[in-house]
Amino acid sequence: MRSHYCGVLNSSHVGTEVTLTGWVHRRRDHGGVIFLDVRDRTGIVQVVYDPDTVESFATAERVRSEFVLLMKGRVRPRPAGTVNPDMATGEVEVLGSTLTILNGSATPPFQLDEHSSAGEDVRLRYRYLDLRRPEMQEKLHLRARTASLVRRYLEDNGYWDVETPTLSKTTPEGARDYLVPSRTHPGHFFALPQSPQIYKQLLMMSGIDRYYQIARCYRDEDLRHDRQPEFTQIDIEASFVEASDIMGLAEGLLKRLFSELLGVELPAFPVLSWEDAMRDYGSDRPDLRNPLKLVDVADLMRDVDFKVFQGPANDAAGRVVALRAPRGAELSRKVIDDFTQFVGRYGAKGLAYIKVNRMADGMAGLQSPIIKFLPEAVVMSVLSRTGAQDGDVVFFGADKRGVVNDAMGALRNELASTLGLLGETWAPCWVVDFPMFAQGKDGTIAAEHHPFTRPNATPEDVLAKPLAVKANAYDVVLNGYELGGGSLRIHDASMQAAVFEVLKMGQEARAKFGFLLDALSFGCPPHGGIAFGLDRIVMLMTGAASIRDVIAFPKTQTAADPMMAAPSEVDEHQLRELHLRVRREN
Ligand code: AMO
Ligand code: AMP
Repeated sequence: MRSHYCGVLNSSHVGTEVTLTGWVHRRRDHGGVIFLDVRDRTGIVQVVYDPDTVESFATAERVRSEFVLLMKGRVRPRPAGTVNPDMATGEVEVLGSTLTILNGSATPPFQLDEHSSAGEDVRLRYRYLDLRRPEMQEKLHLRARTASLVRRYLEDNGYWDVETPTLSKTTPEGARDYLVPSRTHPGHFFALPQSPQIYKQLLMMSGIDRYYQIARCYRDEDLRHDRQPEFTQIDIEASFVEASDIMGLAEGLLKRLFSELLGVELPAFPVLSWEDAMRDYGSDRPDLRNPLKLVDVADLMRDVDFKVFQGPANDAAGRVVALRAPRGAELSRKVIDDFTQFVGRYGAKGLAYIKVNRMADGMAGLQSPIIKFLPEAVVMSVLSRTGAQDGDVVFFGADKRGVVNDAMGALRNELASTLGLLGETWAPCWVVDFPMFAQGKDGTIAAEHHPFTRPNATPEDVLAKPLAVKANAYDVVLNGYELGGGSLRIHDASMQAAVFEVLKMGQEARAKFGFLLDALSFGCPPHGGIAFGLDRIVMLMTGAASIRDVIAFPKTQTAADPMMAAPSEVDEHQLRELHLRVRREN
């Protein structure tokens, strides 16, 4: 229908007869002349109708926002003084000769230009309108280009795209499964895959050697701004590789994406051990743009009278840290109270601090609710260890290790944004040497990554002291977001059995994963891989505030689709066919 897209027109087209199609973005009636801003996925161009073209002018008077038009006209330079430097097409306009309304539009529930006042509910209910916004289209376009470049990169490296089932069985990635009832097997359920993990390992056992897939994954877990119940992984697996091969491939992929799509040259990725990351940042996905570090001070607090510090300082499972905030003395009492509430959300029982007014005045130069409980020598050692200077404030966290890491790690991020310490940079890193297992509050042992990760130990060590065993696992982190994670895998049935044993899955494993243990016994190559969260990569690349902004039809925070009204009830007949009865809890 069209000769040109709207957004491509510029001075080089002056004099050209064009046929355009698109939506009315805005219509302005300037007493005798009608201006239509017409939009398609490439952008917006101004089309002008004047009363000389009687019939078209009359039609133009009838059009409203979001009407769909077919227009012919001639491109001309905008009159002097009306050039719009903010528009790509701002030097030209089209003098319309004909105008056909291809379709009308009801009044939209929100103005596309004023979407931000509409609220996400309404935007998601009318997602097809929200997606007409140029910013949303740009994000989807970048996503499409990302996926395309990923495919090219991996195919150039010898990877084959292999599809794996989504009607499957539980895959232990640590979230709840989405289940699908079977009609043909009463009382039995498929699980939607949390990742293609087991299939990709089986493909290595099949001799596929190098596999990738842009794969949909399903996890029923608590949602956050960087998590969706249904999301997309760039899933990768290869045989006869070391960790460094996969890390090199993955790093190369991210560098290529940033370079080709954003013109950004990512720096080399530093490699941090999990232990160092937890020690310095309280997190296994540290934002390395942030210069602040946690500083251990338990050794200084063992003999102090202040029980809040002394208790955790003498507890093997405890931790006491100091965190220096440069120029933090500017922070008002109210802001510090807000931080205290903030760390409370992570389980911290308080947030002690010392404001450093003038170091030269000794204790008199400090302001703090806790120094009266601490000997001067201890206070001075803490200040010197943290590198505190006049005008700083030093915060403290003391509790069980997990609480301190969560609370003070989060405070570290919060301080950096409050104090404006982040800057416009990209700070990637690898985190390696994760513990193989982690112990929950109830004492149960779970796999830190997943139970197919290869421990850096013998099966005997795994059984004897599981919590001391490290895994051959690596996560890639960018600006505080975990973009991907992977590992070398177990390729030996006795090691796999040992891991299942530690996870107390001994009996269950045979029933659930007998096929995998069997497969391992038929000549399994050493193999390993990684999976990136595609949505998260695109979220960071586009600067989107939420993962929902880079997914065409995302779910809400409560895992629902307000447009389709899904999930929904099904009729009795369907339930009966699936051998189900709904239990209504009041
Ligand atoms: P993992 O569970 O770390 O590893 O997932 C890999 C990456 O997927 C992304 N991701 C998510 N993105 C959006 N919403 C979610 N709910 C969500 N959950 C995970 C993250 C994460 O880094 N099978 C292993 C990979 C492997 O070992 O090869 C796995 O799934 O960016
Ligand atoms: P309290 O003795 O509970 O009144 O606390 C004295 C000071 O220590 C207050 O500033 C509290 O915010 C702080 N505080 C209490 N518990 C902790 C903790 N677990 N970690 C760090 N600071 C704490």
